[in-house]
Amino acid sequence: MYKMKDVNILAIETSCDETSIAIIRNGTECVELTVLTQMDTHAEFGGVVPEIASRMHTENITMVLEETLTKAKMTMDEIDAIAVTYSPGLLGSLLVGVEFAKTLSLIYKKPLIAVNHIAGHIYANNLERKMEYPLLALVVSGGHTDLILMKGDYEFEHIGGTLDDAIGECYDKVARVLDLKYPGGPNVEKMALEGNHTYDLPIPMNDDSFNMSFSGLKSSIINLVHNETQRGNEIRKADLARSFQDTAVDELVRKSELAIQKYNVKNMIIAGGVSANKFLRGEIQKLADKYHITLSVPRMLYCTDNAAMIGAAAYPLYLKGEFADLTLNATSSDELY
Ligand code: KG4
Ligand code: ZN
Repeated sequence: MYKMKDVNILAIETSCDETSIAIIRNGTECVELTVLTQMDTHAEFGGVVPEIASRMHTENITMVLEETLTKAKMTMDEIDAIAVTYSPGLLGSLLVGVEFAKTLSLIYKKPLIAVNHIAGHIYANNLERKMEYPLLALVVSGGHTDLILMKGDYEFEHIGGTLDDAIGECYDKVARVLDLKYPGGPNVEKMALEGNHTYDLPIPMNDDSFNMSFSGLKSSIINLVHNETQRGNEIRKADLARSFQDTAVDELVRKSELAIQKYNVKNMIIAGGVSANKFLRGEIQKLADKYHITLSVPRMLYCTDNAAMIGAAAYPLYLKGEFADLTLNATSSDELY
């Protein structure tokens, strides 16, 4: 039988504080992935410092490319296209990746593919199991909390989401008031495991819409810690972390359930950095079981920012011939849906 030639995409991701390059074959197979995180550097400042992030990307990106090709035992000759995250993210950081990709595209005469970071988080699921449509995507990251209905490749229908803070942002803020180190999300999750749900917190958006809101929940925790501290009362930190996580995740589950009921989907995915949260994964799995839905969640490595997901998201664009030219620019706020 005639076998189609393999398509190897070299993908670059520098939207935040990870310098990452991957080689993805046919949109589903990760040949090689390198992720160089700057987490320890930014932890000293309690969060990502944009100026430092872009400088570190510049210092490291060439070495990350060399390491990736060496580990894959491949040369640029075997690469069919260059993909890069152009939006959304920190502008200075995105620009490093975009300029690097444009230069590689020019020198090696390879087509250039511009990939949206959120599309990347969604397509990370193709590295586990090819997505089946229609599907419901729960996107949970530092900048997004959205419910997306997908009826085909790159058909993103935004059916609801947060009206204010993203869930990841909320985790990071709660971490800060609990004196937990950056990155906050994983540390709040760890602490919540040791606590009980004893604090009565406001339910984020107690209605039947697909909208969510996390700023009230966040503020109530900040105020609670502030008031108790002023009164000289002790905060039961683990209990507060647990109460927060239960309340926030419950809202994500409740709104996902409404969407499942309305759209009668049989497939669901979780995408974005917060999908690394085991409690969330477990609760959404229970929901999927209840409705006999196939749930796909990327493995940990593909949940947080990485270039493998960018290569996976680039593949459908490659097949459609949707290439960018050398005028490609980075944007910090371009929305996918
Ligand atoms: O997708 P991501 O790596 O970057 C963005 O595109 O925003 O997501 C980062 C967010 C951060 O807010 C981080 O605290 C959160 O994901 N996060 C978690 C966990 N791991 C990462 N939140 C809760 N539990 C986790 N295990
Ligand atoms: Zn991300």
